[in-house]
Amino acid sequence: MRAARFHGPGKPLSIEEVEKPKAGPGEVVMRVRAAGICHTELHFLDGTLNLGIYPITLGHEIAGVVDEVGPGVEDLRPGDRVIAYYYVGCGKCKYCLRGEENLCPRPRAEYGFISDGGFAEYVKIPARNAVRLPDNISFEEAAPIGCSVTTAIHATKKAAPAPGEYAVVYGVGAVGFALIQYNKLVGAKVIAVGRREPKLKIARELGADYVVNAAEEDVVKAVEEITGGEGADVVYELVGAKETFANSVKMAARGARIVVIGYERGAFEVNPLEIVVKELRILGSVGNTLAELVEAVRLVAEGKIKVVVDRTAPLDAVNEELERLRRGEVVGRVVLRP
Ligand SMILES: NC(=O)c1ccc[n+]([C@@H]2O[C@H](COP(=O)([O-])OP(=O)(O)OC[C@H]3O[C@@H](n4cnc5c(N)ncnc54)[C@H](OP(=O)(O)O)[C@@H]3O)[C@@H](O)[C@H]2O)c1
Ligand SMILES: [Zn+2]
Ligand SMILES: [Zn+2]
Repeated sequence: MRAARFHGPGKPLSIEEVEKPKAGPGEVVMRVRAAGICHTELHFLDGTLNLGIYPITLGHEIAGVVDEVGPGVEDLRPGDRVIAYYYVGCGKCKYCLRGEENLCPRPRAEYGFISDGGFAEYVKIPARNAVRLPDNISFEEAAPIGCSVTTAIHATKKAAPAPGEYAVVYGVGAVGFALIQYNKLVGAKVIAVGRREPKLKIARELGADYVVNAAEEDVVKAVEEITGGEGADVVYELVGAKETFANSVKMAARGARIVVIGYERGAFEVNPLEIVVKELRILGSVGNTLAELVEAVRLVAEGKIKVVVDRTAPLDAVNEELERLRRGEVVGRVVLRP
């Protein structure tokens, strides 16, 4: 089968012929019909996220149909439409026991991170990780649910905005678009911050109450004005640069939660006094639980969250599409059709 393989930082992905996986006991092989390109892929290419495991097939937003079921799999059959949950925890640690497989220190697999992922014609996963897709969700809409929508749900649960609280979505990419919608669902007032009009236009259409163009306005001042001088109760940091984090701390209200989701290379600088006097809570958010993937699929099926697909592309176009993403030209997600 064909797969886009990662051979380490600084090298483009290479399209190669590799062996098609075979389903073992309790496993299914999925025929990948759609795989989203996440910004995290750029961190792999740049070495910002270096797990030291390669060659490997990237791609952790994976939708398709069951192609083969292994012995003992009773609830899935070839042809079933599914989306992959990309973590396989050890099942025994304190995190796995409470459903937080995303924090498992000894994961058995993590597709597109430490195990072969979805930028390929087929991928093998445990049957438990194959979540059924309702017929009203197309494969191209489905794939980005696997990381972008689930990450938004997970991060929002960390911040727990109360109805009426102000939530800033700092960075209107694929995760940001899902955050806008999920925060509206939980009753927050959403301020979307971006730098390009086409992305801010979609942010508005998806329900953002306010949008701020960081290329034209002073972001901190704008958030202060919108919030009547008090600042934002929640800031979702999707950029993770020195400057944006400094802004996030400045625009945060007393008692605010800053959720760090995006990252760049390099460290943040923060005056501890600002954290102390405002009683800020700085939270990290990584991945999602299986339950959050099930919730995400349901919300998309019910039309409560829309997935923004920039365009679909063949597997061969993966490197070009990664470069478009790097240049900021992608609005939402590009979805590969391997
Ligand atoms: N923690 C997790 O579990 C998790 C999960 C998924 C993704 N991530 C990370 O979260 C980040 C966002 O992911 P994504 O897939 O949504 O990426 P994305 O689609 O590329 O969106 C990021 C957006 O941020 C905007 N941006 C960049 N610099 C900005 C600035 N200074 N001010 C305002 N906006 C700015 C970019 O647009 P312009 O350049 O056009 O302004 C882009 O649209 C990435 O770092 C990704 O690796 C983390
Ligand atoms: Zn991702
Ligand atoms: Zn575990």
